[in-house]
Amino acid sequence: MADDPSCAPVDLRRGAPAERVPAHISRRTFVVATVALGGVTLASSVATGATPRSATESGVAGRSPVGRLALTVNGEHHTIAVDNRVSLLDLLREHLGLTGTKKGCDAGACGACTVLVDGRRVASCLTLAVRLDGAEVDTVEGLEKDGRLHPLQQAFVDQDAFQCGYCTPGQIMSGVGCIAEGRTGSAEEIREWMSGNLCRCGCYVNIVRAVEQAADQG
Ligand code: FES
Ligand code: FES
Repeated sequence: MADDPSCAPVDLRRGAPAERVPAHISRRTFVVATVALGGVTLASSVATGATPRSATESGVAGRSPVGRLALTVNGEHHTIAVDNRVSLLDLLREHLGLTGTKKGCDAGACGACTVLVDGRRVASCLTLAVRLDGAEVDTVEGLEKDGRLHPLQQAFVDQDAFQCGYCTPGQIMSGVGCIAEGRTGSAEEIREWMSGNLCRCGCYVNIVRAVEQAADQG
């Protein structure tokens, strides 16, 4: 299983398996960081020493039509000139360097790209960035506070709620929304309200347990 290339984290920016994590990184370190950052980001940055772009103002040059918007992402304000056709997912990944949010189907069918916009779960691949002027966006990178994982991130680790980790950022953001919406009265209810988030590895039982654990913590 471990040698199956189809199970390796995939860097969709390059369409190829991400680089292996160096031997000095323990499995637990890797697991925790996968939950916090979406895995691919950490694996590639550890391997290359690269750091995400943290610009507060950025632009997309040479394209039209271009719109300008101001939005807050994980508490940081950004003023951005962006092609009107750019999705929120591509804005996050390509222009703000927040690659924790994953691109799966790019068609609203898998939930890998789930983020919160003004507290509501959205498929960022189907959301036009230019329509979000004044919005507050929360992604998986913003959950960790003061070096401590969000309770749901910790629950994913505790419950072993992932294998490849590719769906995990979307599952966690959807779970955060599910808990905030109060849709956690039973395992069946959680399954229903998390049903838009697919897991190719079939970790559904453990994902539901993780959401239950975090919901119980209040
Ligand atoms: S990438 Fe957005 S729903 Fe699949
Ligand atoms: S853990 Fe692999 S797709 Fe969900």
